[in-house]
Amino acid sequence: MRHARAYGIAGLTALGVVAAVAFAQSTTVPLPEEAPIEAAPLGETAVADLAEADWGDPQNGATLAATCAACHGLDGKATVREVYPGIAGQSERYIARQLALFKSGERVSPIMQPFAAPLSAQDMRDLGAHYAMQQAGAGVADDTVVAAGPYEGMKFFEIGQQLFRSGDPGRGVPACMACHGPTGAGNPGPPYPHVAGQSSWYSARRLQEYRDGTTGESDTRLFDIMHEVAQRLTDEEIQALSSYMEGLHPRPDAAMRAAMARIETGPAPIAAPAAGDPGEADIGTQDGGTVAIEQQGQAADGDAPETGSDPAGPRSEDAQAEPDADAEGATGDPSRQ
Ligand code: HEC
Ligand code: HEC
Repeated sequence: MRHARAYGIAGLTALGVVAAVAFAQSTTVPLPEEAPIEAAPLGETAVADLAEADWGDPQNGATLAATCAACHGLDGKATVREVYPGIAGQSERYIARQLALFKSGERVSPIMQPFAAPLSAQDMRDLGAHYAMQQAGAGVADDTVVAAGPYEGMKFFEIGQQLFRSGDPGRGVPACMACHGPTGAGNPGPPYPHVAGQSSWYSARRLQEYRDGTTGESDTRLFDIMHEVAQRLTDEEIQALSSYMEGLHPRPDAAMRAAMARIETGPAPIAAPAAGDPGEADIGTQDGGTVAIEQQGQAADGDAPETGSDPAGPRSEDAQAEPDADAEGATGDPSRQ
């Protein structure tokens, strides 16, 4: 014991000498006691910074997207649909905002946070522009017949289809397509995100979050819109809506094909300005398509002849899933596929 203490004291004395030497040799001016601690910016201003950035440059976005490819694919189609959301065809603004929310920590994802953290506001918009120009994929909706409950006898996706198209006015559930468009393409202006073809587990989780109503976002205006929409949905309805949206893609049906054939031979459609933010208007090359589809909606109401023309629709290669989006009652902007 004695020895140990003696060594200890000797050791402390030795340390004192080293410290004294080190101090004596140092030329650094010691910090004042109450100096503010300087830390790397954590990104609290990430969302606000977006407003300062210019329109996204898709070419730079494509380069940056290499970091994202392992999960979202270079073209925005999830590499594993069951694990990652697809982001192809999503609007520039929505992608940039979600990235900023991940960076600031307002939207929590331990997976996404480290990928969002190094991005500047301009990077986020560039990435958004790149993915906005990609074509979204689509999955297959669940058509199992429901055995019991309020929707007994319906195919599972039909529950979602009915709500998506018409809502449930009696319970105050609005039609989803009023904002997300009949094809689920969303509307980049307000901004209403693209929801078609998304992995159903992901849409379901988002809808549950909206229904629960808890968010870390400091500006909850957009979140609140969806909270209002989702709060009366049952679990079954959330799953069915998500399944319907997973299979949703703009394959034209017979009436739409006939209308498209008439437009191809008829006068050129008048270009209409894209709805909402003009900053988004140049992304994608299908603004003419918007007009064409809206016109089909009207033409299809008349007695359109079945000419059987090749649809050459924007996504006809994805044509395996059933719930066809049609143009009836089109209120959204279906151009952003
Ligand atoms: C290791 C896999 C992985 C990588 C790499 C990755 N992500 Fe993600 N990403 C995810 C997961 C998982 C989610 C879902 C997060 C959640 O809400 O739980 C997600 C969500 C997103 C969302 C939100 C989608 C929506 O509809 O709300 C965007 C946008 C996004 N990622 C963009 C990117 C970009 C851009 C990059 C590259 C800079 C990237 N991600 C890299 C896994 C990844
Ligand atoms: C009044 C307009 C409006 C209506 C109606 C509406 N939505 Fe939304 N939806 C939004 C907005 C705005 C957002 C973005 C919210 C945010 O920023 O988190 C959104 C987001 C979503 C998302 C998340 C997408 C993603 O990738 O993160 C899903 C899924 C969704 N809505 C599904 C639906 C369904 C299903 C319905 C019908 C039951 C519906 N929405 C009705 C405006 C609407």
